[in-house]
Amino acid sequence: MQNMWYVAAYGREIGRTLFSRTVCGESILFWRTEAGSVTAMSDRCVHRRFPLAEQPSHLVGDTVVCGYHGFTYGADGVCVAVPGQTRVPRTARLKTYPVVEQDSFVWVFIGDPALAASTRIPRAPWLDQPGWTVVSGMEPLQARASLLIDNLMDLSHETYLHGGYIGTPEVAETPITTEVDEDAGIVYVSRRMADAACPPFYAKSTGITGRITRWQDIEYTPPCLYVLHSRIAPVGVLPHDDGTDPDAFHVEVVYAITPETDRSTHDFWAVARDFALDDQGVSDFLAESNRTVVLQDVTALNVLEKVIASEPDGYQELSINIDTGGLAARRMIAKLAGR
Ligand code: FES
Ligand SMILES: [Fe+2]
Repeated sequence: MQNMWYVAAYGREIGRTLFSRTVCGESILFWRTEAGSVTAMSDRCVHRRFPLAEQPSHLVGDTVVCGYHGFTYGADGVCVAVPGQTRVPRTARLKTYPVVEQDSFVWVFIGDPALAASTRIPRAPWLDQPGWTVVSGMEPLQARASLLIDNLMDLSHETYLHGGYIGTPEVAETPITTEVDEDAGIVYVSRRMADAACPPFYAKSTGITGRITRWQDIEYTPPCLYVLHSRIAPVGVLPHDDGTDPDAFHVEVVYAITPETDRSTHDFWAVARDFALDDQGVSDFLAESNRTVVLQDVTALNVLEKVIASEPDGYQELSINIDTGGLAARRMIAKLAGR
């Protein structure tokens, strides 16, 4: 979808080494200036299209030198030097992209740059805030983004696809509520389990040994940012009347769903927690477990993409109550795409 902000990378991925990532079919070059700001411009030299992230292209100060014949571009994408002549053609400039570094992510705007400033960038403050410890990663998905959105909006699949990690019988058994805020452009899906088994993901990280009260509150801001507010507490422990919640464990599971092409997706995932902040063992465990869970989804969705790609159009899906969140997300995306 055009005219939207997408997560292109984690800030930590961009430095003084040329870095390329394809977003919505556009190959984009990223690097950091000497002053530390992130640049985003086309990864194709205007001369003969050599990718500027490929060796022997390289940075010299705040310019990037094409590794093929030496066209040299500034941080604004404008060509400042060409070989064999002093005159630089006026049209020699790379397309640049609006770029914002926020909440540990590098966001790029795909579409008409004039619309960037007035288009919202959703927030995920826990990823870069005192009081939270974060593990994160990105897995390449060989499937269209809509399959990952369906997957994340319907967590009943945890019971089947992620048993032994985050799934227990109660997830699939407990009905959901779905709400759509059309003005804010957000889809909410909640599943609140009053008395549920504690899956290993939470038992090992929180230390809770018995059954739990488990809340899953999804907040999806199409197209790119998905947050699962996860609340874990011993059975019956609820937030105080004033809204504080000192006796629960909170995990913010954040996904950024960025189309690479029409048939592939960058699956960014992050897990932020407000407990065991300095416990490296807990960080290692959550990173390993969540990556495993993400890869279980990736494997399933890669299969699904192959099936869909090989079938004629017109397959009639059957939807039930668990699908209301995913269907609401599809409707909102269709509306945004039709603006
Ligand atoms: S392709 Fe880049 S300078 Fe020729
Ligand atoms: Fe999953």
